[in-house]
Amino acid sequence: MNTVLITGCSSGFGLETARHFLARGWQVIATMRTPRNDVLPPSDRLRVLALDVTDAESIRRCVAAAGAIDALVNNAGFGAASPAELTPMTTVREVFETNTFGTIAMTQAVVPRFRQRRAGVVVNVTSSVTLKVLPLIGAYRASKMAVNAFTESMALELEPFGVRMRLVLPGRSPETRFGDNARPHMLGFDHEAYAGIVKTAVARMMDAASPVTHAQDVAEAVWRAVTDPSSPLRIAAGADAEAWMAESR
Ligand SMILES: NC(=O)c1ccc[n+]([C@@H]2O[C@H](COP(=O)([O-])OP(=O)(O)OC[C@H]3O[C@@H](n4cnc5c(N)ncnc54)[C@H](OP(=O)(O)O)[C@@H]3O)[C@@H](O)[C@H]2O)c1
Repeated sequence: MNTVLITGCSSGFGLETARHFLARGWQVIATMRTPRNDVLPPSDRLRVLALDVTDAESIRRCVAAAGAIDALVNNAGFGAASPAELTPMTTVREVFETNTFGTIAMTQAVVPRFRQRRAGVVVNVTSSVTLKVLPLIGAYRASKMAVNAFTESMALELEPFGVRMRLVLPGRSPETRFGDNARPHMLGFDHEAYAGIVKTAVARMMDAASPVTHAQDVAEAVWRAVTDPSSPLRIAAGADAEAWMAESR
């Protein structure tokens, strides 16, 4: 039986992806900063482990407790938004610490075993915002673009060892806790110099007619990335992300 370890399973895409793999007969190691056993259906194929991707000791303990796995899904992350000039360096560092360095550290922790076994898949969940130049999310977008670049280089290095690297790029999803979790990191929107650009960006976000991404879209994209060896390196998840991917080609 195959085993997947997923980061950030307390809500949103990670939670839905854990459900998706459980429903298809996989062993699932659902990791959370604060482990909870009541968010996923009870199963003897489910293990919930504590993991904070910004903490090296937490990563070491989690990977040791997990044992042999076949796939790692780096999903944990959070958003931030503000004019670049007004983004505090503490925010820039926090965003990179989780979204970028956390993803890289988890990948480095599991890849040696994958390389030795000559099998394994790492799926890094970044974002469709990496496909378009957008204002007010410079730090967040940069943190995800850095993961794209790191993943692409690693994909070349690991291909000869039978280890696959994949990127899943979700579009905007109001279904998850992403908006709520980003709110404390949304700063400087009231600065008069940026009033025009903020107004346009907020109107675009609120446009009820534009397509969005559902958590199920992301779960399906991750499933494809893990189970289909012929899947492409970058997989868009959600109607909006697919449209942006097509435009970027
Ligand atoms: N929703 C969107 O519009 C959207 C679009 C594109 C990409 N994404 C990306 O998709 C991924 C999942 O986001 P989501 O929309 O599902 O948001 P979410 O509901 O807020 O889920 C994010 C998860 O990441 C976890 N997390 C945050 N910091 C962590 C850390 N240091 N260590 C371990 N886990 C941590 C959170 O755990 P806690 O409960 O402990 O905070 C939560 O489980 C993120 O990487 C996000 O950047 C989201």
